Amino acid sequence: MSNRKLSAMKPSDGIVWITGASSGIGAAVALEMANRGWQVAISARSRDKLDKIAELHSNITAIACDVTDRDGMSKTAQKIEAEIGSLAMIIANAGIYLPTHFPKFDVSIFDDSFAVNLTGTVNMIAASYPYMIERNKGQIVLVSSVAGYNGLPTSAAYGATKAALLNMGEAMAVDLAKYGLSVNMVAPGFIDTPATKQNTFHMPALMDVTKAAIVMVDGIEKNRTRITFPKRFTFWLRFLTFLPRQLYVRLLSR
Ligand SMILES: NC(=O)c1ccc[n+]([C@@H]2O[C@H](COP(=O)([O-])OP(=O)(O)OC[C@H]3O[C@@H](n4cnc5c(N)ncnc54)[C@H](OP(=O)(O)O)[C@@H]3O)[C@@H](O)[C@H]2O)c1
Repeated sequence: MSNRKLSAMKPSDGIVWITGASSGIGAAVALEMANRGWQVAISARSRDKLDKIAELHSNITAIACDVTDRDGMSKTAQKIEAEIGSLAMIIANAGIYLPTHFPKFDVSIFDDSFAVNLTGTVNMIAASYPYMIERNKGQIVLVSSVAGYNGLPTSAAYGATKAALLNMGEAMAVDLAKYGLSVNMVAPGFIDTPATKQNTFHMPALMDVTKAAIVMVDGIEKNRTRITFPKRFTFWLRFLTFLPRQLYVRLLSR
């Protein structure tokens, strides 16, 4: 395989599979992609919620599956290939935010965050990769977060998983380009979803989930390696990465 510029997958290339699509960003992206002509397979643990999303568009098929179940994820990929169509794109979106509240050190928050956000993503890639690599064609989209750029308050576990996804995705983008596979990393700021509704603090530049889905799918369709939104907020978080780290820690710990 030559090291050529890769084009984005199109609906004619096959199916998109989205995890964590029973609510929030995943559900909004599923609907946006279905409206743009994609056949969409959606998964999450809540069968009833998935069915309600699938009822909204005839292009959407629901399959319940937990991302931490490696074997189950592999069977879901097999089912999609056998019953719906070829996997052209995966969007590893399933994620949980469990805040760390020091001085208590709760190791289960780290275990659970790593299992869903990080290993769950690896499980999805492992399940779909054999089909994509065999065809030398595919697009892998990893949903990270701006919390992956810098260490943020209460995000020691969540941020670690999201930083890992940015690094993992970049390394895979470098390695897989010559095999015809692209990797896109999505790093949203605050988006209005059931997950953020639980936050009691002020969320700067909170973005409507339908608008976020449009920006995200636009970026995916352009095969952008890094997709961030809302722009002004994510710019400032990127800017913080350039501060001297001692000053950064002093500012953020206030
Ligand atoms: N909202 C934001 O401000 C924001 C910002 C940056 C990044 N993100 C990221 O965007 C993604 C979606 O977040 P969201 O805000 O849309 O949250 P959400 O509404 O809570 O959605 C999370 C989704 O993940 C699924 N999920 C959780 N654990 C799972 C598991 N073990 N197996 C399969 N599915 C599982 C949930 O469905 P079930 O419970 O039915 O399984 C749900 O569909 C996450 O990766 C999050 O970290 C969100």
